Amino acid sequence: MTEMIKSWLECIRCGEKYDFSGIRYTCDCGGTLDLKRDLSQVDGQKLKQIWEDRWGAKHGIYSSGVWRYKELIFDCEDKFVITRQEGNTRLYDAGKAGEYAGLKNFMLKHEGENPTGSFKDRGMTCGATAAKFYGAGTVACASTGNTSASMASYAAIADMKSVIFIPEGKIAYGKLAQALAFGGKTLQIEGNFDDAMELVQDVCRELNIYLLNSINPFRIEGQKAIGFEVLQQLDWQVPDWFIIPGGNLGNNSALTKGLQELHQLGIIDKIPRIAVIQAGGSAPLSKMWKEGTEYAAVKDPDTIATAIKIGNPVSWEKSLRGIKWTNGIVEDVTEQEIMDAKAWVDAVGIGAEPASCCSVAGAKKLVDAGIIKSDETVVGILTGNILKDPDAVVGYHKDELGHMGIKGTFANKPQVIKATVDAVKAAIN
Ligand code: F0G
Repeated sequence: MTEMIKSWLECIRCGEKYDFSGIRYTCDCGGTLDLKRDLSQVDGQKLKQIWEDRWGAKHGIYSSGVWRYKELIFDCEDKFVITRQEGNTRLYDAGKAGEYAGLKNFMLKHEGENPTGSFKDRGMTCGATAAKFYGAGTVACASTGNTSASMASYAAIADMKSVIFIPEGKIAYGKLAQALAFGGKTLQIEGNFDDAMELVQDVCRELNIYLLNSINPFRIEGQKAIGFEVLQQLDWQVPDWFIIPGGNLGNNSALTKGLQELHQLGIIDKIPRIAVIQAGGSAPLSKMWKEGTEYAAVKDPDTIATAIKIGNPVSWEKSLRGIKWTNGIVEDVTEQEIMDAKAWVDAVGIGAEPASCCSVAGAKKLVDAGIIKSDETVVGILTGNILKDPDAVVGYHKDELGHMGIKGTFANKPQVIKATVDAVKAAIN
């Protein structure tokens, strides 16, 4: 595209519009903001061809699996772009994990293969770029771990300071290690993620720090690229379903927003259904969906999938809007279901952190319930790398998660043996 597409920020609640001249994350009415664009003059087929031509680029911003789709991400001047060539992640055949879920055509998009090991890098490249666009010197986020790891990395690359708010003692070790290693000022808050999320918004407002949680509309724009890339990998053939874990609910909001834009441009001719899967102990959206009640935060969220241990997700309205638009569904799964599904994702050699495996646990539950048919084409999003949370893996395989009510159903227990050939023979037979 030679001409930039006209774009602006728009409140999802009251429709108020804002240009990009000042920093803003929410509307004056309190609603979250969409980055909207005027697609009426855009030739979808031309745009698709541009993206095809960029596929496999070796250098420059188009070698990123996010900036490949720059026209529908953030069409700023290239000099602002902060990138680690994120995206370009693999789309695997789920193999036996698909059989476990009862599906014949199940693919897993592994977002844990991003530079810092989670899908957050896609939103972060765009968020960090916006930070640079606005001339920010310091960025901040509240996090269950992956956002902070990603933000600390992108801030370091862009030579910005980063301040991280995490719930004390409640994030997986791999993620804490990354935040510290990348030089993020790491503040462990007494309280849970929801408390940290409230605090960081106040801090950013008062101290003039740029907020990089997914309440920031630029984060959502970057994350849309997961869906774009899956569709490009499938030669723009649309699957019947996308299944995606839900925590703060930014990622599924991004997925549906991206799909809507592709559909509006005629790049896809069918809308896939979205299934958002929450962990049972942290499932405000699922509760609302299934019980038909008003939105209410969950007070003391809990789950072994610490990435999604969130009781008051900031993007619940955007999320709900997108799910309804795709004729989608919200479901929740138990701790046991998450860890058993994870055992299969891991055992086939792909591997992912617990929260990611909600996708597979949710697939199985929805197939068992007859909602997803076994011959439908399904793409599950794996959101984070297996090495983010080694404690959960070893705990399961040693069958030491009984205190959390989790059995090592498919455990591959390590064995201690004598250092003799006979002992080895006995052990491996
Ligand atoms: N999976 C993983 C591995 C995550 O880290 C997260 C969110 C999610 C799923 C849920 O995505 O929030 O967009 O619905 N992690 C955030 C963090 C909250 O701070 O890293 P969501």
